[in-house]
Amino acid sequence: MLIELPEVLKPDQLRLLAELLAGAEFQDGRLSAGASARRVKANQELPADSNRLERLNQVLMPSLLAHPLYGLAALPLRVAAPYYVRYEAGMRYGAHIDDPVMNPQAPYRSDIAITVFLNEPSDYQGGELVIETHFGERSVKLPAGNAILYPASSVHRVNEVTAGRRLAAITWVQSLVRHPDQRAILFDLARARQRLLAEQPDEETTRQVDHAYVNLVRRWAET
Ligand code: NI
Repeated sequence: MLIELPEVLKPDQLRLLAELLAGAEFQDGRLSAGASARRVKANQELPADSNRLERLNQVLMPSLLAHPLYGLAALPLRVAAPYYVRYEAGMRYGAHIDDPVMNPQAPYRSDIAITVFLNEPSDYQGGELVIETHFGERSVKLPAGNAILYPASSVHRVNEVTAGRRLAAITWVQSLVRHPDQRAILFDLARARQRLLAEQPDEETTRQVDHAYVNLVRRWAET
């Protein structure tokens, strides 16, 4: 299931991130890739020891974590620090799946991948994030400040940027619920529950949906 989070970042936050990234030193993205991804990866990343990372994360992460759909969609258990990536003209990231376990020092399972688009689609040509789903390929190129959540197990790629520059932040979540199909059911039910609780808090139907949701999370959650 692909879930779009609109307006994670406001224009002033995007401007600040762009300024921080504009003056930063990037390195070859292959340095952080696993063996098979390295063969198809051609982009640039902010190094893990960049003195700008903390500032960037302080702008991005609170807004992402506080987004009203994020918790319902991700059911997060562990949240990773993001990577900041840059694609200049000619760069791409071929078809791959993400590493199953990230960050050897404090390992977590990558259930969900999140891409936050940091500049406007009109700033570059190409550069679509293409995700294979049960229903065929989905091509994703969102306005600056929007994010997409997708299962980290799905095959995905970034098409070659043919002009301009693409900026994005990538992060992963270990979810309380590891199976994407179960998360999709819970996401639908969570939104129905939220609406019922707001509009008809005293109805028996609301109580039934509320209990079904809570008990399904209990049944499927792993900590
Ligand atoms: Ni990936």
